[in-house]
Amino acid sequence: MVSFISFVSLALALASTASAFPAYGTLAGLPREELARAVTNLEYVKAPPPPGPLAYNGTKLVYDKAHPFKAPGPNDIRGPCPGLNTLANHGYLPRNGIVTPGQVITACMEGYNMENWFARFATYAGHLVDGNLITNLMSLGGPTPKTGPAPPAPALAGGLDTHVVFEGDASMTRADAYWGDNHSFNQTLYDELASFMDKYGGGRYNWTVANEFRWQRIQDSMATNPEFSLMQPRYFTVYLETTFPILFFVDGRTTENRTLSKEDALSFFKTNKFPEDWYRTGVPSSFDGIFDVAAAHPIKPGKNVNGVNTYEVDPTQPDLSQFCGIYADFVNRIVTGLYPNPTGELLEALNINLQYLYDSISDNFCPDQQQFPYGKPQ
Ligand code: HEM
Repeated sequence: MVSFISFVSLALALASTASAFPAYGTLAGLPREELARAVTNLEYVKAPPPPGPLAYNGTKLVYDKAHPFKAPGPNDIRGPCPGLNTLANHGYLPRNGIVTPGQVITACMEGYNMENWFARFATYAGHLVDGNLITNLMSLGGPTPKTGPAPPAPALAGGLDTHVVFEGDASMTRADAYWGDNHSFNQTLYDELASFMDKYGGGRYNWTVANEFRWQRIQDSMATNPEFSLMQPRYFTVYLETTFPILFFVDGRTTENRTLSKEDALSFFKTNKFPEDWYRTGVPSSFDGIFDVAAAHPIKPGKNVNGVNTYEVDPTQPDLSQFCGIYADFVNRIVTGLYPNPTGELLEALNINLQYLYDSISDNFCPDQQQFPYGKPQ
């Protein structure tokens, strides 16, 4: 009898372990049955509307007493984005790395003076493909090992580490997912970046370094990564990230000739720490400068189709001049590819988050171009 009871308890324990899905785990791309099981076991939180713009949007001290640096503990999640990792290491985001879209938007505005519409756009794009739409939580990274020998790159690692749907190839200080670790700081790549700062920026990160290093990383990935891809949304973000060190990492008291020192670059990229006494930029920013970086060495969206150095342009892909096309491609190809047949609460959550994504660009860029991949909600 005792052994029968232990057997039943063990079976129940195993069943509950099998069904325990982390509240912050991405649901995107799960096989149908796994998805249904996860949704049933998670508590649905209806996504609230995003926060509005800051009341005060000038420069201000960000590394203040209320936001001390603390390196992440063993259970704190960090990922490929030095901007968000830094916000978490200073408590502008929850230090465990499990966040809501509203927290990310507020933290990006508070910490970096990111324009409200743009913080909403980037955040809902990330959340739709990397977050948990049922619980309204997202993690800054995934459960993949942060160091050590490269495991085979999983299709979907979790959180912002998830490859292809937002995270992508040819990063400045992170290796391609093909090599196994797409999120940890990579010293070799940073050393190369530093040598570009010496060669093109007098030892600092400036627009010329942005142009040249961006191109170098694309060429390098094309020649070494057989699975190299510059398909959207990566084509857009690959240029975007190159501008961030100038737009967001330079101290806000520098008004002209905004360039970043090696010391400050290392602080953000490697330690994920604000430089001492650091002020955010005094000018709310979004994606200023990406067109110039792209124009320095033009290439169209595409990918290696048959091993290294087999890059082919995909003529169906929108380029930077078609911003609303990038949005439409993201929604109609990437989001529906991850969620082909949503129903019930999941469908409602998708439609709410898709609405918040579109709201961020409806007035300024894409009026009357809203996409309804799951039909117009009633
Ligand atoms: C608003 C929400 C944001 C999301 C969802 C997000 C997400 C990401 C992701 C997934 C990556 C990895 C892309 C890759 O290299 O493959 C990344 C890279 C990056 N992010 Fe963010 N990010 C956000 C905001 C920010 C902010 C506010 C900053 C700057 C203050 C920033 C700076 C960067 C930089 C510089 C990289 C490039 C890292 C490198 O190439 O070495 N991000 N971000």
